[in-house]
Amino acid sequence: MATIILGIETSCDDTAAAVLVDGKLRANVVAQQLEHENYGGVIPELASRAHVERITAVVETSLSKANIDKKDLTAVAYTQGPGLLGSLLVGNAFAKSLSLALNIPLVSVHHMQAHLLVHFIDDAFPTPNFPFLGLTVSGGHTQLVRVDNAASFTILGETKDDAAGEAFDKTGKMLGLPYPAGPIMDKYAALGSPIFTFGKPSVPNLDFSFSGLKTSVLYFLREEQDKDPEFIKNNLHDLCASIQAAIVSILVKKVKTAINQTGLKQLVLGGGVSANSGLRKALEACDVELYLPPLPYTTDNAAMIAIAGFLKFKAGEIDNLSSEPKARMSI
Ligand code: KG4
Ligand code: ZN
Repeated sequence: MATIILGIETSCDDTAAAVLVDGKLRANVVAQQLEHENYGGVIPELASRAHVERITAVVETSLSKANIDKKDLTAVAYTQGPGLLGSLLVGNAFAKSLSLALNIPLVSVHHMQAHLLVHFIDDAFPTPNFPFLGLTVSGGHTQLVRVDNAASFTILGETKDDAAGEAFDKTGKMLGLPYPAGPIMDKYAALGSPIFTFGKPSVPNLDFSFSGLKTSVLYFLREEQDKDPEFIKNNLHDLCASIQAAIVSILVKKVKTAINQTGLKQLVLGGGVSANSGLRKALEACDVELYLPPLPYTTDNAAMIAIAGFLKFKAGEIDNLSSEPKARMSI
């Protein structure tokens, strides 16, 4: 009998559901919340309300697209954390209700583990072998991890302040770009040159820091705008190219050190910032076998929750109805 997993993702501002049949993706539905665009960041209360409004339709759409009746589901997997508590609660309550009503197992999934395990979907894209080096780069996380198997993740280094995605979003906001600024900066960067330089962080080991870059950009813009009030408008593309180059260089420097220190031959990327074309290009030049997720699987999606849930289910890691959402959760 086929193993059919419904994956549910509600950790931040995307309401998503996916159906996976024997490791193959049958449906992957994401409803993005545009409510936050005008606020320069995700408003937690708006996000959880929007999840409540959308989750039933999103799950039903994923099942109908997959041509699966809910009675045929083997298990339901959901994002337990990390993320916004109110948003996580919606997925948690929905998944537990389904598990109870259909009498099927519940699988609790770690969002950042799922960003890396998305590469194991049995579809057209290549799958790495364990062990591998993972780089998670999202709006809330930046970590280098050693992955020995689907359940064993060891943090080698992580950001001491902002995440890489946050660095894009916050500096983008200084440039007057809407949230999330990362994808827009990526597009504008391609039209400019990295002619401006900013201070480099000096963080030991494999850890990262982006807050110094943020401050450096802030002071640089203030100074230049005192001389030319139109400075941002006149230099937008070059500014985006320069900030992107700075973020990419912080990431790539530590990735190279991690490759040398661990001797791991494969680098697997996950998280929204792994869509960044500057980062992709710089990593392609590194001496490592590179696994980049296809673009629809870089930002938050439920396909990654379904595959992580499938791997946990096969390993017998079933949760129960006392499973609680966790805003903070170690990988
Ligand atoms: O993984 P994700 O969808 O959500 C979290 O778990 O945080 O990542 C969202 C982050 C945002 O900060 C967004 O600006 C960034 O990923 N992002 C990008 C790009 N696409 C998304 N950053 C740089 N370049 C991109 N192309
Ligand atoms: Zn994410």
